[in-house]
Formats: sequence, structure tokens, C-alpha cells
Amino acid sequence: MTSPLQFFKYSRGALQAENVPLESIARELGTPLYVYSANGFLTPFRELQEELIEFNHLICFALKSNSNLSILRLLAQEGSGMDLVSGGELYRAEMAGVRAENIVFSGVGKTAEEMKQGLAYQGTGIYSFNVESLQELTVLNQVAVSMNRRAPVALRFNPDVNAKTHPYISTGLKKNKFGISKAEVLEVIRSLDQMPGIHLKGISIHIGSQLLSLSPLDDAFGKLRELIDELQQHLKNRLEMLDLGGGLGITYKDEVPPSIPNYAKLIRKHFGKQLKQHPGMRILIEPGRSLSGNAGVLISKVLYRKKRRNKDFLIIDAAMNDLLRPALYESYHEIVPLQQGPRKSKNSAKTSIVGPVCESADCFANDRDFSLQPDCGDFVAILSAGAYGFSMSSTYNSRPRPAEVLIQNGEFKVIRKRETWADLIRGED
Ligand code: LLP
Repeated sequence: MTSPLQFFKYSRGALQAENVPLESIARELGTPLYVYSANGFLTPFRELQEELIEFNHLICFALKSNSNLSILRLLAQEGSGMDLVSGGELYRAEMAGVRAENIVFSGVGKTAEEMKQGLAYQGTGIYSFNVESLQELTVLNQVAVSMNRRAPVALRFNPDVNAKTHPYISTGLKKNKFGISKAEVLEVIRSLDQMPGIHLKGISIHIGSQLLSLSPLDDAFGKLRELIDELQQHLKNRLEMLDLGGGLGITYKDEVPPSIPNYAKLIRKHFGKQLKQHPGMRILIEPGRSLSGNAGVLISKVLYRKKRRNKDFLIIDAAMNDLLRPALYESYHEIVPLQQGPRKSKNSAKTSIVGPVCESADCFANDRDFSLQPDCGDFVAILSAGAYGFSMSSTYNSRPRPAEVLIQNGEFKVIRKRETWADLIRGED
């Protein structure tokens, strides 16, 4: 459980990460700019590792939340595996040197090409394909047979529980496109005899993202436990792994998400006995946001203040193409100045902070009260932008994507250069 200013703190009025003031970086590299704190990733990762230490476990970072190579290397060096969902993400994992036995491949629409890529990864092939339909399994079987291989598989079970989060990021209901029902799991298991290219390793589950209560997970884990108890009677070999997915929420404003110790307690409650009795069984989790969300901020400069009768618009140089979450989910991100100056603005009007893109959805904060009103030329930080920030960015309005910077051990390093105009037209005729 992380919070917006846990890894970014004010010291003598200046916002810093790991003792490096952010304003000097913004002046040197320009804005908009993503800045990450290495401790922001490592602290929750290490807490999870410690809480799960009694189990044969693997934390697979959901790299869709932040897929920068330096971040992947940082986590892989700590022993993290990766949960990925495309050939492109698998390529990134390879470039970051992630070991084959630490990779799971999720997603409803893997192509035969991506399956080949996964089976060929580092010669041995990845740890598991989390398969979401009988058709997908049939294609994977054909691909594996054609390569003279057996594909390791976990079936993704849809437990039909309401994760009580934003509907766009709810994945565990029957009406969602994800996973298969208990009846379908049993049907698939019956067809395994005709699939020599498939090695069933386990069951996976993922009910949604930004979960703020453990109770939907409690329901889902309960249903998963029932399912595996039943399955063990049908299977010749024991299941080797359970993948419990990701989804733990973080604090963006004043939410109180589940703590890591309570999350671990829930895993113990449902699976502790099984795991103790069968030490060969591995438990996987796929956290994304809870490791990356509060490890990053998006820094932007105030361009203009535009006055309306009852409110002001503050126009900044970051936009929805750089950070899509507020436009797509109306999500809340705290916005703070990089310098807490003594300046007292006479302006007490409500303020909306918006970007330059030509859409009214390009809005980071709607009618907010700011105790410190930033002025033109000031820098602000949009907090909790480490997860699904850069990774969902685009070049809409032909805006080159921002640079990314990692702060570690008191130093900062550019881990992705700012895109140029030439990058924008690369490959075009
Ligand atoms: N595993 C699977 C199979 C997933 O689909 C996801 C996220 C995760 C793990 C990681 O979930 P996390 O621990 O980060 O909650 N763009 C949205 C979030 C989409 C999540 C998609 N799946 C956002 O900005 O809120």
C-alpha cells in the first residue's frame, strides 16, 4: 500500500526524490517529464517478498503498468518475474534479461506468432501461458506440436465476482471477456488427452485492478480453492502452480487500499494448507500498480492562466497523450507544485488544470481548490503517475512523448530520451 508523497517529499519547500530536487532535473531536461524513484518500486516489492517468504512464490511484475527497460532490469535484479500480454512486452522482457522460468504470458488474444515466440524464449520457453479459451488452447497445442514441444499452461478461471472497481478495469465477471467458467475449465481438462502439446501446470485468476477492498479477492480465492480441490480429483498429476493475479489498489487521494500483510494473510487463509502440504506447488502473483503507481510523477510547466467568470483554467504543457488516465477513467491524481513558495495568490477561484490537446477530456483536475496557486512558468508534479502513465501514452496531436528519468542512490539518469519530431514521422512515406 503506497501513497502519493511516500517517495517524493518536500525538503525546504522543494519536492525531491531520494534527496534529488526535481526542479533542477525539469530545468535541465525540459517538460513534460516522467520521474521515477527506484525506492518507490523496491520498497513495496521487498515488502511483498517478505510477506510471501514462507511460500514457494514468484512475484511477476505486470509490465504493462510500466514497461521501461531500466525499470524491468531494476525489478528483475531483485528477483522479480514478469507478467506480460504481447509479443512486444516479451521482447522487452528479453532485452531486460528476464529469465524464462520467471515469465507468464497472459491475455485473451495471443497470436500463433506470439505463442512461437514464447515457446522459443531463451531456448527453453517461458514458464506459463495463461490461456483464456478452448480455441486459444487448441491453437497453442498445434503450435507446440509443430515445434516438437509441450506448452506449459495455466487456465484462467473467471470466478464471476464483482471487483467493485471502475468498470473498464473489472475483469472477473461472467460478462467480461476474460477467463473461462468452472464448467469450461472442466470441459477443457477432459479434452487434454487429445492435446499432446499441452502441459497443464495450474490455474490463474485476475479479477480487476485498483481493488480497494479484499472482500472480492476473498470471494474469488474461495471459488478458486473449491475449483482446485475438485480438479485434483480429475487430474493424473498434481497442479504445480496457482497464479493469483494482480489488482491491489494504491492511494491516489484518500483511499485506504488493503495492506500487503493483510493481502498475504488472505493468501495464507485460502491456500496456506495446500501450499504447506505440497511444497513443490508455486504461488504466483502479478502486481502492477501496487509496485509502480506511486513510484513515479509527471512533471509539467504552467503555460497560461485563463480566466473565466467563476473559474480559472491553468493550461500546462502535459496533456492527455502523456497521461491518459484522467481522460479515460476520470481518475484523480494529486497535483502539487515543485516549489512550495511563500506566494499567496489573490486568486481563490476554483481551478481546472488542463492540457493543450484539442479535446475537453484533456483535463487533469476539474474545479479543484489549490491552497498554493501555481503561476505561469511554475512547475507542477502530477502524482501517482508511475503506473499506466508512460505505458499508455501516445503521440496524439503529434506531440512527441516525454523523457523518463530514474532517480537512484542520489543520482538521476535519463532512462528514455524525449521523442523528437523525426521520431513522429519515422516509417511514414
Ligand atoms: N494481471 C493481469 C492478467 C492483468 O490484466 C492486470 C492488469 C494485472 C495483472 C495488473 O493489475 P494491477 O496490479 O496493476 O492492478 N489502465 C488501467 C489499468 C488496467 C489494468 C489491466 N490489467 C489504469 O490505468 O487504471
